Amino acid sequence: MLRPLEPAIIYLIVGLPGAGKTTRAKELELSAPALRLTPDEWQLALFGDQNPPDKRDLVEGKLIQLGMRAAELGTNVVFDFGFWGKDERSALRWIAGTIGARSQVVYLPIDHEEQRKRVTTRFATTPHETFQMSDVELTQWRLQFQAPDEEELQGTHIPPAPLDHASWSAWASERWPSLPDIYTVAAE
Ligand SMILES: Nc1ncnc2c1ncn2[C@@H]1O[C@H](COP(=O)(O)OP(=O)(O)OP(=O)(O)O)[C@@H](O)[C@H]1O
Ligand SMILES: [Mg+2]
Repeated sequence: MLRPLEPAIIYLIVGLPGAGKTTRAKELELSAPALRLTPDEWQLALFGDQNPPDKRDLVEGKLIQLGMRAAELGTNVVFDFGFWGKDERSALRWIAGTIGARSQVVYLPIDHEEQRKRVTTRFATTPHETFQMSDVELTQWRLQFQAPDEEELQGTHIPPAPLDHASWSAWASERWPSLPDIYTVAAE
C-alpha cells in the first residue's frame, strides 16, 4: 500500500477509571487532531447502563480495527481505552508499526483518594454518561493495573509476543475476538 507522507500517530491512553483519560483524549482530538475512539460512548449507546462485559471486548476489537485502518490512511487516532495490561499496549504498539504508524503511550496516574472523589462527583452530575463504581471495585482494579514502564513511555523496545502466540496480531485477536488477525510485518 502507498504510505501517507507523514506517519499517523496512534495515542494509547492509559489509566484507571476517573484518571482523566477521556478529558485528555478530547484535548488530543482537537490539538493533534485525531479520531477519538472512546469505547464507553459506544457501549452506552448500544447497551445502555447494563455495561455487559462480554460485549465490551467485541466493541473494543472493532474500534481497534477501525482506528488502525484510519491510521494506515494517515489519520491520527486516540484509543481512549485505559489499557491496564502491558501486553495490550505492546500488541497495539506492534500493530501500529506494521501499518506504518507511530504510537505514543499517554499515562495518566491518579491516587486512590482523588480517584474516588472524581468518580463519585462525576456519577452524581452525569449519571447517563458514566457507570457507577464501588470502593471495592476501585481497590481491586488498582491491584490489577500495570502501570507503563519507561520503555513504553519512551516508545522504545517492544517485547516479543508470548511464545504460545505466532505474533502480537494473533495475541490481539484472541484478547479482542472481533479484531481479525490480519497484521504482519511488511517484507523488506
Ligand atoms: N486533570 C484533572 N484535574 C482534575 N479533574 C479532572 C482532571 N481530568 C479530568 N478531571 C475530572 O475527573 C473526572 C473524570 O475524568 P474523565 O472522564 O476524563 O476520566 P476517565 O479516565 O475517562 O474515566 P473513565 O475511565 O471512567 O472513563 C471528570 O469529572 C473530569 O472533569
Ligand atoms: Mg473515560
